Amino acid sequence: MKIGILISGRGSNMTAIVEAAQSGLIAESEVVVVVSDKTGAEGLIKAEERGIETLAIIRNGRTREKHDAEIVAELKKRSVELVCLAGYLRLLSKDFIRAFPNKIINIHPSLLPSFKGLDAQKQAIDYGVKVSGCTVHFVDEDLDHGAIIAQKAVEVRDEDTAETLAARILEDEHALYIKALKRIVEGNIQIQGRKVLGKSALT
Ligand code: GRF
Repeated sequence: MKIGILISGRGSNMTAIVEAAQSGLIAESEVVVVVSDKTGAEGLIKAEERGIETLAIIRNGRTREKHDAEIVAELKKRSVELVCLAGYLRLLSKDFIRAFPNKIINIHPSLLPSFKGLDAQKQAIDYGVKVSGCTVHFVDEDLDHGAIIAQKAVEVRDEDTAETLAARILEDEHALYIKALKRIVEGNIQIQGRKVLGKSALT
């Protein structure tokens, strides 16, 4: 399966996916391009170091639709079949989502539907929850809303700050994203409305 990854920043999830595909952990899959909407994104260098083609496609005052259309065209040009968002900080347009039906996934650092949007780990600390975690889900037009593929719980400790919690969740994010991708690439997934069925939906 040809995978395209969209990033805006650090790119640690992207790196985990690239390495899993390159090592054969996710069989029969290849990351063919990494796209960033920010020219200076740290993740672009990490992708290049691993021999992956990179593109910086900035919005540049265009509408979301026009910006997305350029990204979709570049992905299609490379025959991308599955799009992974990995710290990509923009909502996708309807047309982008329609171009890859049930083939766009995202990782979010909370147990959705709690703590959508930015700074999910700080939101969890501020709310005082005892358990947070991470979620891999399909992407739809609403923020952090699409059908849930896999989740992993992470304990929140009394001494945690947003930063220490984020660091512990991040370790689990990498493993969870790869497990979810393996299931998708292996076809071990059935979608029934909001429900994603298949082995180990709860990880
Ligand atoms: C991760 O916490 C991810 O869950 C969220 O953005 C962060 C990206 O980190 N969507 P990285 O760029 O993958 O290191």
